[in-house]
Amino acid sequence: MFFANSGAEANEGAIKLARKYGALHKNGAYEIITFEGGFHGRTLGSTTATAQPKYHEGLGPLMAGFVYAPFDDLDAVAERIDDETCAIMIEPIQGEGGVRIPSREFLAGLRRLADEHELLLIFDEVQTGCGRTGQWFAYQHFGVTPDVLTLAKALCGGLAGGALLTTREIAPSLRPGMHASTFGGNAIAACAGIATLETIEQDHLLERARELSDQFRTRLEALQAACPIIREVRLVGLMIGLELTVTGGPVVEACLQRRLLVNCTHNTVIRLLPAMTLTAQQVDEGCDILAESLHSVSA
Ligand SMILES: Cc1ncc(COP(=O)(O)O)c(C=O)c1O
Repeated sequence: MFFANSGAEANEGAIKLARKYGALHKNGAYEIITFEGGFHGRTLGSTTATAQPKYHEGLGPLMAGFVYAPFDDLDAVAERIDDETCAIMIEPIQGEGGVRIPSREFLAGLRRLADEHELLLIFDEVQTGCGRTGQWFAYQHFGVTPDVLTLAKALCGGLAGGALLTTREIAPSLRPGMHASTFGGNAIAACAGIATLETIEQDHLLERARELSDQFRTRLEALQAACPIIREVRLVGLMIGLELTVTGGPVVEACLQRRLLVNCTHNTVIRLLPAMTLTAQQVDEGCDILAESLHSVSA
């Protein structure tokens, strides 16, 4: 494990690890396959890994060595693998891309392709990790284990902290001194990280996230049946997306007027990433306000 200060930094570490691995074990292969609609951060490397043109405007030339593939399309990934490929990097559930949940077969297929071609499978769990989905890590839902995992966001309970994890076999590709960070793993972030992990465990927050998720599912599916502008409800634990038939901006505004903060991503998806410590009553209150706001926009 290597400690960083943010998700973008953890991902930069993963990109460097993949390139070092390619240099040592794959004849200098350096290309990393990433996915349309993905999001990996705002540094130049992680921005290039982010296969969304809107984040690239005015920043060119971007870093060489990234190849983009459509999400949830295994054949397209297989077609893009060649002698230069060293890794596949993906969010197991796309967050900023609109809470997109891939099929189990797709992620299992990526594992198979990575094994066949000796590629590193990197899961960016900056958003999905640390309990957000009702498991410690999203990969556990799919039964697919990555070679490299990145974490941040919830890791230190709101303080800046990130981490890059890999196996004992792969870790030596990045030797001491090849990558470092002055503040990575600093004492305050580390204490906050330990307190966060202990709280999740002691307060049974993974179970709590799953219970709250069931409550959200019941409420939001009922809302979908009653509200024609909701195209689809997608959720895993407390990672929740409402795909609308219209742009989400007016819904965000209508919620804000009623003192509820929600986020719209990918233009038409209302994304909810609520606290794992909510009470059942707060879920109901929030869903009531969301319903009122959606009905007002729909009308
Ligand atoms: C999946 C994913 N990766 C990376 C990042 C970047 O993390 P940070 O903002 O901590 O650099 C984010 C942030 O939203 C994210 O959702």
